Amino acid sequence: MATVKFTAMKDGDREDYEFLTAHEIDYAARTGDRLLDALVQLDEGLSGYKITRLGHSLQAATRAWKDGADTDWIVSALLHDIGDIYAPYNHDEYAATILKPFVREQCTWVVEKHGDFQRLYYAHHLGGNRHARDRFAGHLYFDDCDQFCERWDQSSFDPDYETLPVGFFRPFVLEVFARKAYDPAVIRAGERVALTNPDIAKTRTGA
Ligand SMILES: [Fe+2]
Ligand SMILES: [Fe+2]
Repeated sequence: MATVKFTAMKDGDREDYEFLTAHEIDYAARTGDRLLDALVQLDEGLSGYKITRLGHSLQAATRAWKDGADTDWIVSALLHDIGDIYAPYNHDEYAATILKPFVREQCTWVVEKHGDFQRLYYAHHLGGNRHARDRFAGHLYFDDCDQFCERWDQSSFDPDYETLPVGFFRPFVLEVFARKAYDPAVIRAGERVALTNPDIAKTRTGA
């Protein structure tokens, strides 16, 4: 069977739905590569900064890697602005939705809120509220989002920074999106992992 037999879902039978499930599993397995393709599309996105959105994403991920961050953090840094293509007004939530089944709860929260935290660096120049993040004061992951923005996001617009290429990060992305969705061992609800690990950073950078 190359397609299902039905034209309206209510007429489908077990054979149809088992056939579709097999297709969906196969399709889901290629999510990592589709996301990497989307990331490359960010290179054509609206800018005005000294580097493209792809360059910014790679720079954020490179900084995370050099800080000794773990895989969840690196992939979160790499994909945190992937929503810019289709969701310019809630790009943070869009990226968090993509990551949510596959990374630690901590990382999903940070990516989801990073838009509000980033306002600290620019909103006052436009007459806006740079302290929008204060509504999350006292949250378990508040300091992590503060660090994420300070170390990896707001700092990653430097055209002279030595940024690692997309191919370097592909294995990290494929590993994350090959995980079992919503596995409690991956989500690790309530657990905090530091963004930086000086020992690992040393082995990666030789510094
Ligand atoms: Fe962003
Ligand atoms: Fe960003």
